[in-house]
Amino acid sequence: MADTRRIGIFGAGWVGLVTGGCFAELGHEVVVRDIVPERIDALRAGKLPFHEPDLPEVLVRNAQRITYTLEAEELAGTDVLFICVQTPPTYSGDADLSYVWNALDELPRVERRQILAMKSTVPVGTGESVRAALEARGLTNVGYASNPEFLAEGTAVRDFLNPDRIVIGAFHEEDAASVEALYSGIEAPVVRTDVASAEMIKLAANAFLMTRISFINEIANVCEAVGADVVEVAQGIGLDHRLGPHFLRAGIGYGGSCFPKDSLALKQLASNSGYHFQLLSAVIEVNELQKRRVVQKLQKHLGKLRGRKVALLGLAFKPGTDDMREAPSIVLASRLLAEGAEVRAWDPVAKPGELLKGAVQCDTVIEAVTGADAAVVVTEWPELRELPSAEVREAMARPLIVDGRNLLDPDATRAAGFAYEGIGRASSAFESLPGTPERVWRNREVPPAETASDRTTRKPK
Ligand SMILES: NC(=O)c1ccc[n+]([C@@H]2O[C@H](COP(=O)([O-])OP(=O)(O)OC[C@H]3O[C@@H](n4cnc5c(N)ncnc54)[C@H](O)[C@@H]3O)[C@@H](O)[C@H]2O)c1
Repeated sequence: MADTRRIGIFGAGWVGLVTGGCFAELGHEVVVRDIVPERIDALRAGKLPFHEPDLPEVLVRNAQRITYTLEAEELAGTDVLFICVQTPPTYSGDADLSYVWNALDELPRVERRQILAMKSTVPVGTGESVRAALEARGLTNVGYASNPEFLAEGTAVRDFLNPDRIVIGAFHEEDAASVEALYSGIEAPVVRTDVASAEMIKLAANAFLMTRISFINEIANVCEAVGADVVEVAQGIGLDHRLGPHFLRAGIGYGGSCFPKDSLALKQLASNSGYHFQLLSAVIEVNELQKRRVVQKLQKHLGKLRGRKVALLGLAFKPGTDDMREAPSIVLASRLLAEGAEVRAWDPVAKPGELLKGAVQCDTVIEAVTGADAAVVVTEWPELRELPSAEVREAMARPLIVDGRNLLDPDATRAAGFAYEGIGRASSAFESLPGTPERVWRNREVPPAETASDRTTRKPK
């Protein structure tokens, strides 16, 4: 158990609440400050403002040690202040640090030493600018450390309490030691480094993960062209101890609150410094194209999409979260709507609202697939493993599944009576759908969509 410290948190989002809850779990006293009154009201009422497994339990279990407030002054009594505010992209692709600077403007003035620890993902050089700003304001008693966060939504609590490493970059050894001490009780390698390197570790780690995703997605696209199966290929690659199996799942591309913005921020950071980061530019472009490949796959099976009903299953950017930020489902839905398709969308927890404007938002999978010409697995929620069922097949106008995450077993799905198309897998591109003459599909002359009710009411000849 760590020596108890008083910890302040700027930002009651994913990172702020997980950080606050987990530090409370380690025995510290925590004050979480946000600027959104509804968020603080919800937290005080014991409600988590978003979906994150295990976090509600952590917050309830440690409720005695956590205070929620709108007042920055209430952070005055804390020893370490974590900045966990958002750093979204600006139009130029640079990180928008205005929330960080606002938090700095609101730092309570205290006599004793306080340490500011940056958990928000920021460009390299931010720490140096913050230090200069603190000095300019006469806040020489405020230390600074970069302590980037590597948690992943959906497994955030587990990731925080069992990290692969803890990275701390500081200008003064004693500040780094104070931050490190907060984590005692957690077993993990600690990387103590300078501030710029700590900032770069976070950006580079994300960029490398994205590179792996775009790499395997390109391999998947080549697999489709040459008749190999990317799932088998990825397994064969991942068993190489020099490479490892992680982030080698082909799919329709990454999204989320971090990867897209952090890749842009790193690309911009490099170009602002006079360097053209070609590899990262390609990673970003591959990802954008990958999201759109589903449209081509649907067209391959259905021809023109005007008037076709397409069910998008799973909308959050990944399973285990309701976070819709930069979710591939948004791009996909708007592309399909632009093609004239009717989009029926379902997710077990995400409520996309206006983000999927024009799509019919459904409460159940069955509601989404009823009368659909195709069902697309967009996010690999575990419950979608049951998708190739008799009930779904009966409900759909055409039993076509495009598996954007390679969640399903192709053979079992086909055996259940569906045409199946995954990403980079042995393709069923021109296989006939049950009940459809093969010739028609080869010529891509698609018969008019029939609805489930058409099929059930059709009279035997
Ligand atoms: N979400 C993730 O998976 C993740 C993982 C690692 C790092 N990060 C990084 O951590 C940072 C936060 O991400 P997030 O997903 O938690 O963001 P978020 O948008 O969920 O939460 C940010 C919170 O900060 C609040 N806020 C803004 N200004 C404030 C201020 N002056 N004082 C107090 N609160 C303020 C906002 O109201 C919001 O509730 C970002 O830089 C992000 O890149 C996120």
